[in-house]
Amino acid sequence: MSLALPNGIQLEANSGLPRLILTTQYAEAEVYLHGAHVARFRPRGASHDLLWMSRESWFEPGKPIRGGVPVIFPWFGPHPTRPDLPAHGFARTRPWSLVSASDDGDRAAVTFSLAPDDDSRRLWPHAFELRYTVEVGRKLAMTLETRNLSHDSFTFEQALHTYFTVSNVRQIEVTGLEGREYIDKMDGGARKTQQGPIGFTGETDRVYLNTADTVTIRDEGLGRAIAVSKEGSGSTVVWNPWIDKARRMPDYGDEEWPGMVCIETANAGENAIQLSPGMTHAMKAVIGLK
Ligand code: BG6
Repeated sequence: MSLALPNGIQLEANSGLPRLILTTQYAEAEVYLHGAHVARFRPRGASHDLLWMSRESWFEPGKPIRGGVPVIFPWFGPHPTRPDLPAHGFARTRPWSLVSASDDGDRAAVTFSLAPDDDSRRLWPHAFELRYTVEVGRKLAMTLETRNLSHDSFTFEQALHTYFTVSNVRQIEVTGLEGREYIDKMDGGARKTQQGPIGFTGETDRVYLNTADTVTIRDEGLGRAIAVSKEGSGSTVVWNPWIDKARRMPDYGDEEWPGMVCIETANAGENAIQLSPGMTHAMKAVIGLK
């Protein structure tokens, strides 16, 4: 990497994967070039990181990192017609390029880009550019821009698949989605309406549709509430694997599931984005303590 880094941004390697450490007077964060993956965010004085990372995560080229904020593009979940293709697309397992880095003491920011290569073209034959900006201040802001560089429209799904640290998922409450419709993947994709706040009593895998709402994770055990607000996103995914699925995932500890919940800022299913040639779509998620 030839770009000169400002004072508040350092480059390190973890098991061979380079990562940037962003330090401001308000918070610290870590971002890998692999997947442009934010792996840590902690406001100064906070007792725990906001983001959760698995102790069993891989840190290997070609494999996803388990925890933090995987960038999901251009499909969400299994590929719609080719189950042999990687789940959640390819953006999270590729090396991204750092295109800018800045820091003024209050706020540090890095921007990465991802362009097609021969491997990605085999999976998804469109010309595109992704730009992803991570800003670290009192809050963590992540903006994913998708630009259509082809001659035809294309349709894509995406997510900032954010894993949050919680005291005990069985004792938290997630608010902000009351009255919204969701696809319940634990019930054969049935369409349901959310009644009241979300509590967790078993494996949970839901895509809330047509919602721009701010979601709050209320966690009395850690004495805190985390707000997730967003722009350019129609879907919010809520996920916890619970006991059996945790055991089936090789890069996830059997006993880790109570300590995390995913609240994902997304455009999935009927909220997939159709983008005309030359156009750019921006999706932004902002997370912070309330
Ligand atoms: C969630 C999906 O977003 O990601 C779940 O809704 C999936 O169905 C989970 O299990 C984790 O996916 P992966 O590919 O990272 O194991």
